[in-house]
Parts: sequence; structure tokens; C-alpha cells
Amino acid sequence: MFINLIVLLIVIAITVFLGRLTFRAVKAQRLWVKILGGLGAGLLTLVFAAVSFFGIKGMMTVYFPNAAPAPDLKVDATSEQIARGEYIANIGCVGCHGVDQAPPLKGGWNMAEAEGFGFMGQVATENLTPGGKLANYTDGEIFRAIRHGVNKDGDMVMFMSMISYRELSNADTEAVIAYLRSLPAETSDAPTGDKLNFLGIVVMGSGMFPMPEPAPDSIDAPPAGATPEYGKYVATIGECRGCHGSDMTGTPASPAGPAVPNPRPFVGTLTLDEFIQSFRTGVRPNGTPFSEGMPWQSASMMTDDDLAALYAYLTAEP
Ligand code: HEC
Ligand code: HEC
Repeated sequence: MFINLIVLLIVIAITVFLGRLTFRAVKAQRLWVKILGGLGAGLLTLVFAAVSFFGIKGMMTVYFPNAAPAPDLKVDATSEQIARGEYIANIGCVGCHGVDQAPPLKGGWNMAEAEGFGFMGQVATENLTPGGKLANYTDGEIFRAIRHGVNKDGDMVMFMSMISYRELSNADTEAVIAYLRSLPAETSDAPTGDKLNFLGIVVMGSGMFPMPEPAPDSIDAPPAGATPEYGKYVATIGECRGCHGSDMTGTPASPAGPAVPNPRPFVGTLTLDEFIQSFRTGVRPNGTPFSEGMPWQSASMMTDDDLAALYAYLTAEP
């Protein structure tokens, strides 16, 4: 934050300097200085003013995200909670926080670099085992990190604040916390966490990565069953909505990644058994495998009941 603040102050100072230069050029005696100097310095002033503006907005977004205080929470960590948390973590968290998408959850995957926005700085997954920073978090602070996307210091955590685990129910969020606490401590030398540089701050301020609406403090899951409502919740746990769009109708290409298709027309051609089979094997009934961009492995770990709910959701009206 300190270095980014210094850079911001320098950029603002340059803006003011260029502004004064423009003013002097416009006032100059000679016509060519007036026109060329005024235009050149004026344009540069505008560019630096825009960078200053987005820089200030980005600093506010990242360092002052205005999140509520962490709830006063102590998770009981029953064996049911730990088992439920493990199920969710294996479907959801391990893909990013694991090592090559497998346990242990010791993080260190630099997503900024992997996804082609490394120019913004480091955005690396965190070590979620008790060997990492969460050892110094209260249960409430972990809850707030997952739900509201801010770390212990109240700074925004970039990726977590955009993905759908903010919509996990309170019970499931607590189950995940119970599971993370139960893991053996793993240490890792790989750098973890966000280290956005000034360009990253400016990009965040420009709104190129749209931030979702703030999540409510309390969330209940719909009743479990093969219904579209519960299937939508399963799609949240599976992070399907993060790629296929909030309503699972596909997303156009954006700075965050290439276009992702609407899966509904294809699913509409399948029976429930074919649907489950496709996700267990990664191969469609016609023999074409899912491509690498489609992480079917996480869905392959879902129970038949959860896949049936997903099927009900994807074959209903969006
Ligand atoms: C799409 C990738 C992705 C998935 C899936 C994911 N995370 Fe993260 N997570 C990240 C990244 C990247 C960070 C580093 C900070 C940031 O940019 O959000 C992070 C950071 C965290 C942090 C640390 C926040 C802090 O205070 O610094 C916690 C806690 C966390 N994740 C929990 C989870 C849990 C629990 C799950 C599964 C339910 C999960 N994450 C799934 C990408 C992911
Ligand atoms: C990391 C992003 C990502 C996630 C997460 C993701 N998908 Fe996909 N999905 C894709 C991409 C990209 C394709 C197209 C690749 C292909 O056709 O093989 C795809 C293809 C599909 C298809 C086939 C569509 C067709 O027309 O053939 C289905 C069905 C599907 N996804 C369902 C899901 C479900 C259900 C989940 C959650 C369990 C999920 N996806 C999670 C990116 C993702």
C-alpha cells in the first residue's frame, strides 16, 4: 500500500505540473507554442488526470472496501461439519488452493500470471492449512474473508471477492472453516496473497473487473433436493457460476478470460444418467471430452443427489 500511495502522489504531482505547463503554453506569445504546446501538454494532462482518478478509486476499492466487522463466531467443529467442509473444499477450494488442483491446500498458485494479468502484480492463492496465515485469524475473520472478500486487515482480497463462495450458506461456510482448522499444518515457500502494483490498482479503479454487490451477512441454503433452487446452490458450491455466469447462461469474453458457453442447450439433450455419466468421466455421450477449460473433475466428486439437483437446475428455465 505504501509504495502504491507514493506512486499515486507522484502521478498527481505530475498531473498538476502538466496542468500548469498547459496553462503557460496557452498564454504564450508565439502562436505555434500556444497551439502545439497547449495541445501536447493538454493531452498529457488529461491522461495523467485519468490515471490519478482511477488510482484514487482503485486505492479506495482495494484498501478501504468498507466491510462490516468480522462476526463474533466460534465454530464447534463437529465431525459432520468437518465432513461437509471436506466435501465442499474438494469440489471447490482445491482447484485453486491445492497444488496442481489436488490437496494439500497450501496455495501459492499465482493466478494473475496464469490468467494473463500478471502486469497487475501478484494474485496468488493462500495457504489455507493451519501452517498459513489463517492460524492468526479468528473463525469470524475467516468467515468474513469468504463471505465479504476482505482479509484480517480489512483490505480487499481480489479474487475471493469476485467468486461465488461469497454465496455459500452460513452453515456451509462454518463447515469449511471447521475442515480447514482440522487439516495438518503445511508450510510452503511459494509467495501467497495479493500484491497489486500501481497498474493493478489503476485497473481495479477503472472497473475492468466488475465487483459484485455486497453479500448479505446471513445466508440459508435452500432445502436439499433435486430442485432448480437447490441445483443453483450446488452450482455455487461447484463454482460453475463463476465461469458460466450467474444464471448459467454463458459469459462473453472479458479481461477476466475468454467466452464460456451456455451449457443449457447441451444439457437439455441429455437424460439424467447421461448427465451424471458425462461429469463422472469428463466425456460427453457422443464421445467428445470436455476441453481443458472445463474443470469437470470437481463436479465428478459430487454426490449423485447433488448432480441430480444440478441437472434439474440446468434443464429448468433460467
Ligand atoms: C478461482 C480460484 C479460487 C477458488 C476456487 C477459491 N479461492 Fe480462496 N483465494 C484465491 C486467491 C487468488 C486468493 C488470494 C487473495 C485473493 O486474491 O483473493 C485466495 C484467498 C483466500 C483466503 C485468504 C483471504 C485472506 O484473508 O487473505 C481464504 C480464507 C480463502 N481464499 C478461502 C477459500 C475457500 C474456503 C475456498 C473454497 C470454498 C476458496 N478460497 C476457493 C482463489 C480462490
Ligand atoms: C473455469 C471455468 C469453468 C468452470 C468452473 C465450469 N465450467 Fe463448464 N465449461 C467451461 C468451458 C470453457 C466450457 C467449454 C469447453 C468445452 O466445450 O469442452 C465448458 C463446458 C461445459 C459444458 C458443456 C457445454 C456444451 O455445450 O458442450 C457443460 C454442461 C458445463 N460446462 C457445465 C458446468 C458445470 C455444471 C460446472 C460446475 C460443476 C462447470 N461447467 C464449471 C468452463 C467452466
